[in-house]
Amino acid sequence: MSLKSRLVGTAKRQVKQTLRPVLQRAMAPARTQIPAAYWGLESRHGQGLCLEGVPLKELTRRWGSPLHVVHMAALKRNVERFTAVPAGRTAGCEVFYSYKTNPIPGVLGALHGLGVGAEIISAYELWLALKLGVAPERIVYNGPVKSEASVREAISRGIQLLAANHAEELGTFARIAAEVGRKPRVALRVSTDSGWSAQFGTPITGGAALRAYAQARASSHLDVVGLHAHRGALIRTEGELTGFVEAVLAFTDTLYQELGLDLEVLDLGGSLCTPSAEHIDERDWRLNLTFFRDLPAPDPHAALGISRYVALAVELVEAHYARRGRQRPRIFLEPGRAMTGDTQLLLGRVHTLKEGEDRTWAVLDMGVNHAECVRNEYHQLFHVDRPDAPASRVYTVVGPICTPGDTLYHAKRLPDLEVGDTLAIMDAGAYFVPFANSFSYPQPAIIALEDGHERLLRRAETFEDQVALDVPTGEAPASEKPAAA
Ligand SMILES: Cc1ncc(COP(=O)(O)O)c(C=O)c1O
Repeated sequence: MSLKSRLVGTAKRQVKQTLRPVLQRAMAPARTQIPAAYWGLESRHGQGLCLEGVPLKELTRRWGSPLHVVHMAALKRNVERFTAVPAGRTAGCEVFYSYKTNPIPGVLGALHGLGVGAEIISAYELWLALKLGVAPERIVYNGPVKSEASVREAISRGIQLLAANHAEELGTFARIAAEVGRKPRVALRVSTDSGWSAQFGTPITGGAALRAYAQARASSHLDVVGLHAHRGALIRTEGELTGFVEAVLAFTDTLYQELGLDLEVLDLGGSLCTPSAEHIDERDWRLNLTFFRDLPAPDPHAALGISRYVALAVELVEAHYARRGRQRPRIFLEPGRAMTGDTQLLLGRVHTLKEGEDRTWAVLDMGVNHAECVRNEYHQLFHVDRPDAPASRVYTVVGPICTPGDTLYHAKRLPDLEVGDTLAIMDAGAYFVPFANSFSYPQPAIIALEDGHERLLRRAETFEDQVALDVPTGEAPASEKPAAA
């Protein structure tokens, strides 16, 4: 590096360091922390943060660190909110949990025990749902890739709803249905202008979705009963939900008028937010990175909650059909993050504190290998041992996997850390587990905390697990050996 670029680099660093305290104060966000009580955590003298009376730091001592914890009471609370019949209505929504969001059999089993069905998007998930004892009429099958074998199985078993992701799947469904001799209950996934499209769904705008429905209805092998629409773009406000549902409802009118199709099922997908987690805004991200300005914390109470979401969805659909003098369809919901996001947390420990020129690096035993979402979403971080100490020091919180991408928090103000302290990343119940990997480190154990009792749901990976599928060097299994010439 030339002398000139070294001098420029030093000058830039000095400007940033001088500006940091000024900007941190001048541009401080209104909220930088969500209170621990929001998740039912309480701080007890000498014990640190506790959940249901159990000190979190004791959990890592007993079960190892890192550790993924499922709070069963929070899960039950969310299920009750999703499945409750809204006040003044005779029926609510039927709920199918999005398996891919948090595919822990212990969690899925608990959801099914509470009356929630399975929303699956792969042959594996179909297999898992059946293995967990889910009745076929409690399974909705979505997703852009469905193996023929899984479609055959789904049709043979008579699952609740088989949703074509795109019109091209309809031919396969019809052919397999004819072979099996059973008519599947079919929906077509449509996309609205406000949500995901691309490889997902057939667009309403432009008429492609209507043509696909006409094609599906022309097949004598398919029972076209439903419409599937998953917004994808998150729903945080009543306005976002209303806009989405109204676009879908307008299309149900088109189906009725053009094809005489009166839908039995309206599947509104997932996409409701986890109130305490939020996508990090680009500008906030840059200010955090450059000037160590705190990331603003979302206000969970300002976000659309589960109960209001369900009530509003029912209200919109009922009012629409009432105006037309027709019976409203059954409403299916496929929540992922809103159901499980805020019911889990990830615990890890400080392994090293490395002093740098302008910051302290807190190197943890957990990183993006276990908490990928923290890269681009706000997730509250708690100092478990001393939660009430003043958060006076800025740390760059990184993980163990030896790559610069393994940065969980670029600039996070925390109470003073010591090696061995436990930290908790909140809202680990959506898209943490399915995106977790075994990059150089085994994956953590998963436990459930229920009425103050701990129960193992998944043991931690071992080194042996990490090589269990590999063929020992030099030994190819018989089936893989090349045939003798
Ligand atoms: C078809 C479908 N349904 C439901 C979900 C769950 O979404 P979320 O976790 O945003 O509620 C997804 C996730 O992408 C999905 O693709």
